[in-house]
Formats: sequence, C-alpha cells, structure tokens
Amino acid sequence: MTKQPFYITTAISYVNAPPHLGHAYEVIGADVMARFKRLDGFDVYFLTGTDEHGQKVQKMAETKGKSPQQFADEIAATFIDQTKYLNISNDQFIRTTQDDHKKASQYAWKKLLERGDIYLNKYAGWYSVRDEAYYGEDELSTREDGKKICTATGTEVEWIEEESYFFKLSAYEQKLLDLYENHPDFIQPAFRRNEVVSFVKQGLKDLSISRTSFNWGIPVPDDEKHVMYVWIDALLNYISALGYPEDKNGLFKKYWPCDVHLIGKDIVRFHAIYWPAILMSLEIPLPKRVFGHGFLLTGGNKMSKSLGNVISPQNLVEKFGADASRYALMREVTFGQDGDISWPLMTARINAELANNIGNLVQRTLSQINKNCDGKVPQPGILEDVDHALLNHAGQEMLVAVRGEFEKLQFSRALEEIVRVANAANAYIDEQAPWTLKKTDTARMQTVLYVLAETIRNLGLILQPFVPVAAHRILDQVAVPADARDFVHIGTQHALQAGTALPKPEGVFPRIVDEEPAAQEKTA
Ligand code: MSP
Repeated sequence: MTKQPFYITTAISYVNAPPHLGHAYEVIGADVMARFKRLDGFDVYFLTGTDEHGQKVQKMAETKGKSPQQFADEIAATFIDQTKYLNISNDQFIRTTQDDHKKASQYAWKKLLERGDIYLNKYAGWYSVRDEAYYGEDELSTREDGKKICTATGTEVEWIEEESYFFKLSAYEQKLLDLYENHPDFIQPAFRRNEVVSFVKQGLKDLSISRTSFNWGIPVPDDEKHVMYVWIDALLNYISALGYPEDKNGLFKKYWPCDVHLIGKDIVRFHAIYWPAILMSLEIPLPKRVFGHGFLLTGGNKMSKSLGNVISPQNLVEKFGADASRYALMREVTFGQDGDISWPLMTARINAELANNIGNLVQRTLSQINKNCDGKVPQPGILEDVDHALLNHAGQEMLVAVRGEFEKLQFSRALEEIVRVANAANAYIDEQAPWTLKKTDTARMQTVLYVLAETIRNLGLILQPFVPVAAHRILDQVAVPADARDFVHIGTQHALQAGTALPKPEGVFPRIVDEEPAAQEKTA
C-alpha cells in the first residue's frame, strides 16, 4: 500500500544569532508531529533550515567584522547542531544561501514578472530591520526616547526611500478572502485566522519586494543593483527545498502542497497573506495549513538578555537531557497560546509525570516481572473486566484520543491523554496488588502483570514522538521487535508473547534533583 505523503516545515531561522529556546520549541513541535505521522503510517517529509539573507544578517556580520557569508556559515552551524542535540528527525536542512535556492528564487521572480505581478516604482515608508518588515503609519507609536517603533513588536523602524520593485498584492485581496472563507482551516488556531481576515479586509497595499541600499540578498534577475526583499526569498524555501522549479528527485510532485507550515504567531501575516498570494501568482497549489504557535515567556515576559531570563536550548538539554526537555516544552504550554516556562515548572512536570508516574509504573511492573516471573513475559489467564478496561483504555481508546489531538496540533492535550492511561495503570496496580497475589494467587498475579506489561508496551509506542530515546528503551525492556513499533501495533491483543525473556529492568526517567533552584538566574 502506498503511504500518503505528509509535508511539514518550520520557519527558517535568521542567522543573526544562535538558536534560543523559541527556535527549539518550534522545531521540537514540528519534530513531534513528524514522528507521530511517520509512526501513524504517513510518508513524511520534514524541512527546517536557516534564513540567511537580508539587512539584519548583513548588519550583524559587520559588527562582528565578518563577511555575511562567513558569519552565516558559523551561525547556521549552530542551528544544525541544535537539530542534533534535540534529536530532530528532519529530512533536510535548507540554507537560503545554497545555489539551488538562489536559482529557484530567481526563476520564481521571473515568473511573477511574466504574470504582470511585479512593477518598478519608488518605496517611501517605514522599515524595521529587526523584524525585516515594512509597517504602515497606523502600526507605529512613539517611544519615550522619541524613536518610532512598531507598536506590536516594539522594534525600531527607520524611514527608507528607494527605488523598489513591487508585488501586486492588492490584486489578491479578494482571492485571499475567498481562500479564508472556503478553507476555514487554512490558518490555525482560529483566533489567528480572524486577525488575518480583518487585516486583509482593511485593504492590502502592494508589497515592496526589492532593496537597493545594501547587497546581501539574492540579485534581482536582469537588474543587479536590486536584491530581493528577504521575505520573498525566504518563503520560497518551502518549494526550492523540494527541487522547484524542476522535480529532479521527485520531491516537489510528491510532497507539495505542504500539509503544515508550523510558524510563530509573529510571522503569520507573511505566511497567510504574502505566501498564498505569491503562490497564486505562480499558479502553484496552496499549502493546506498555516499553524501559528504562541511565544514562550518566562515570568510572563519575553525572554531577553536584558531581562536576564534567557534559558538556552543547550542549558536545557544539559540539565534535563533531550527527551525530558522535549517533554517539558510540549507539555507545559498549550500549542497555539503563549505560555510561561521556568526551571521550577519544568522540573516539577518532569518529576511528576515522567519520573513518578510513567517511570514508576514501568519500574515497579518490570521489577516484579523480573523477580516473580523469572524475567519472562508472564502467562495471562482469563481476563476480567478490569483487565479489559485497562487494555482498551491503553489501546484504541488512547490512540484515537491522541490522534485527535495531533490533528489539532494539541501536543499538551495529547500528553494529557497518555498520562491519563499511566494514572489508570498505576491505580490498577495498586488495586490488584500483584505483590499480595504473589502469596495468594500466582496465576492471577501473572495475568495482572501481563496486562501491565501490555499497557507499558502501548505507552512506549505512543510516547515515541515525544521522548524517542526513552520510549525505545521502554520498548526494548518489554522486548518489542523493531518492526512492531509503529501505531498499527497499538492495542493489538496478546502482542507480547508469554515466556519471552526480558532484559534486566532499568530506570528510564530519572528524577531531577534540583540542587540549584536558582539555576534560572545563574544562566542569564
Ligand atoms: N526568518 C524568519 C522566518 C522565515 S520563514 C519563511 C524568522 N526567523 S526567526 O529566527 O526570527 O524566527 C524563527 C521562528 O522562531 C519563527 O517561527 C518565530 O515565530 C519563532 N520564535 C521566535 N521567538 C520565539 C519565542 N520566544 N517563542 C516561540 N517561538 C518563537 O522569523
């Protein structure tokens, strides 16, 4: 049977600075989704990468005394490194300074020109280098020091006046409104969709898409004093990565249109307005979904060096390990909303759910099997109602509920469903008390431990997208073969063969001992 393709992307990150926790959060979210879909029978392609052009990168390189390319190479390496230490399963890491990407962007530019959607004029208006975005007067306010800033992002804007190519965005106003109307799921969560719709309804101005006052960008074809506006080249990464305009490796044909562009709330406008308009002009099918996640905050504030509340992704992984870090970030914050994280919150969550709940269930079940069943999968007798209830809950019921949450990218709720199963299994072990049955009814003890081992198998399977390494160790400990680890095997009856020898149990989720409750301040 051919598998259905599923294409997921993150935003590509600017290389003006190494990754921070916001970047880690996004790429982990996409990775969890990609792993889930793979295990659920899809043919997944997962793209992430770096956005390397533009004034922001050029300026930062200058302050470091480096060429933009040299600087981009160094910072891109830190993002690639991040995919390793966070255990990200991306199929490709695109860098927009790659030759094939530059060629694809120039090809697309020419197409837009042929379509009559690009014209030359003069731009006079406000620009934020930090956001690499143009803002209208109505989006600005004046800071105490008299500087003009963008009200929404708080970044300084500068007045620019230069010759510029424009994209006829205004021509796509009605088509975009029709898109939002006919495909209500195109922008998610729904409240972000409403923001976009009201923005477009206010009227769209044509978009300035080239710059002449600096040169770190992709040259505009046949007019090399212009470089492309960084967002034009950046958005095109989603198709250039698949081989557009050609289809050398068959990726474009297979995976486009994209299933989910996973991005932060600050760049929804670019993905939900500019990107579909460009694709409409290029006569390329539109992505199915743009999901704008919220921002990670600490103590209710944006993480920033000046506030001293920065948690770096490396610090996190050093303290908790990749698995528990991934778990904490996905569990602590409702995907789509802003959410507060801190060392104490994450430590408490990891200890309560991974160590005390799931870890403890695995540990006490497997050590009893080791001691009382000769280290082999126990032989179940006839199952009672309570046994069926737990097995059903840990089987199809859990899979259906978790899958439903994944459809909405609700990772925290998916984990809630999983934790609920672990709670039920811990309640079951307490009620059934196999340690007592050992003295009174060893046959029943074997049944109870078998039901628990099956529950652990199902938990190990469903936990793989979140905590890949620990989940594999759980599955190893109940001797699940490598070819029986996808979701088809969740809830299958009697999957564990009685009498199969099991390895010696060992803990999978260590408790975090917090010697330094003030770690957060220390790392700032
Ligand atoms: N280069 C553009 C994206 C181009 S996509 C064609 C960009 N880069 S970025 O480095 O500023 O941000 C990369 C991603 O990280 C964005 O989706 C952004 O929303 C996200 N985040 C940046 N800070 C964040 C938090 N504090 N919390 C969560 N996500 C955050 O924008």
